[in-house]
Amino acid sequence: MSKTETQDHFTWDASGRAEIDGYDLAELAEKYPTPFYLVSVGQLRDNYRRFRQAFSAVDGLKCYYSVKSNFESIVIRTLTEEGCGGEISGALDLELVKRAGMPPENVVYDGPRKTAEEIQAALEFGVHLIDIESMTEAKTINAIAQKLGKKVNVGIRIDPLLPRPYYDKMITTYKAKFGFRLDQALEAAVAINEMENLRVTCIMTHIGSQVFTPTRYLETLNRIFDLIGQLKGRGITIDEINLGGGYPAQSMKNWRLSRRIVLARILEKFGRLEADVKSIDDFGSAISSHYHKLRKDTGLDPRLSLEPGRCLVSNAACMIGHVDIVKNDWVFTDVSINDVPENLFFSEWRMVLPGRSPDEKGGQLYNIAGPTLATQDVLYFQKELKDPQEGMPIAIMDIGAYSIARSNQFTRPRNAVYAIDESGAMILVRQAETVEDVLSKQVWDDRIQSLSAKAG
Ligand SMILES: Cc1ncc(COP(=O)(O)O)c(C=O)c1O
Repeated sequence: MSKTETQDHFTWDASGRAEIDGYDLAELAEKYPTPFYLVSVGQLRDNYRRFRQAFSAVDGLKCYYSVKSNFESIVIRTLTEEGCGGEISGALDLELVKRAGMPPENVVYDGPRKTAEEIQAALEFGVHLIDIESMTEAKTINAIAQKLGKKVNVGIRIDPLLPRPYYDKMITTYKAKFGFRLDQALEAAVAINEMENLRVTCIMTHIGSQVFTPTRYLETLNRIFDLIGQLKGRGITIDEINLGGGYPAQSMKNWRLSRRIVLARILEKFGRLEADVKSIDDFGSAISSHYHKLRKDTGLDPRLSLEPGRCLVSNAACMIGHVDIVKNDWVFTDVSINDVPENLFFSEWRMVLPGRSPDEKGGQLYNIAGPTLATQDVLYFQKELKDPQEGMPIAIMDIGAYSIARSNQFTRPRNAVYAIDESGAMILVRQAETVEDVLSKQVWDDRIQSLSAKAG
């Protein structure tokens, strides 16, 4: 196998053995206190290399990993080692890329509302550029740059105003919530470029997450090239197009979405509900060749950059737990929606029962729930399971993106993160929180007592 070919680090065979990088998940579920997250560093590296390979036709391509999608130390450090840059969205992400040793010129700063302190810290660190989303923000950055005596490169984030598929209306960017509307971007860029301490060098966008096909990126590129042609006419040279993230995780189950429930039911009946997701190679070749075509057609020569998150980390982490209670058609596990809080409207994480065959058929329908009292603490609705047993292990795959990063402490502390490192060793990369940890930031002292005395 060549270095860039992706290897699936998870296997589940007919005997029931489910393993990642040679580790039997059933054994791990007995050895370590559950639930816990498990990251495969090898899978992460392969995903990144495959992503680069898919876009290898683009010279000088820059990748800024979307740090917020999974900010575990081992993830950021591994990607930094691979030469990947980072897309940060605030003080936390900035500190993380510093700790990982990511060079500042590989870091971009995005987000609709950045504080003055964060902007100053990012400029002092020397980020490659800040992507601007509003005139208010432009003025703040200009003032801080002036104070620091710097002229700084900035990007203009745009909403390309693409026609929106049904699912996109539900889950991603509301119209022009992020960035400038395409029809306002030209004037905004000109006005920002006139600010004394700012230089507009990049047009940036982000069109959604788990985007199924490359088509929408191609249309976005058309609109961006058109905009940078107009900017050239106004004397502004754009040297970078940043297409943002959204490239899909391949291993999640994805559903065809229809506004019509009846149609969805018919598709389901005939086993046609699962949607095809184009491979990362398809995304790479479609986007690269369209980019080259537009450069040739327009004579413009911006370099291309991308901000992948989900497609790098999704299948590089899973969560391992146990079934604790089986009651009627409810199966309660120790894994909660706190641990995997991302709302997936159109995709599903793979559920694995280590020790059981993946081909097991003929069970009943169960809802798989977490242990909290939240009504929405349900991991799967109406899953076919054969004779679920209390005490059996369960693994939720594909949760590397926006799960650990968004986990919360509703009624219980957050769980530990382990990783299988390059040498094949299991290492602890985040300790499980204790009740003490959770309460350590609460105030329980005289101030509270005096408040209750006043109230009394
Ligand atoms: C600005 C920006 N860039 C990149 C990403 C990464 O997207 P994904 O994880 O879908 O690749 C996000 C995710 O929300 C984002 O907001």
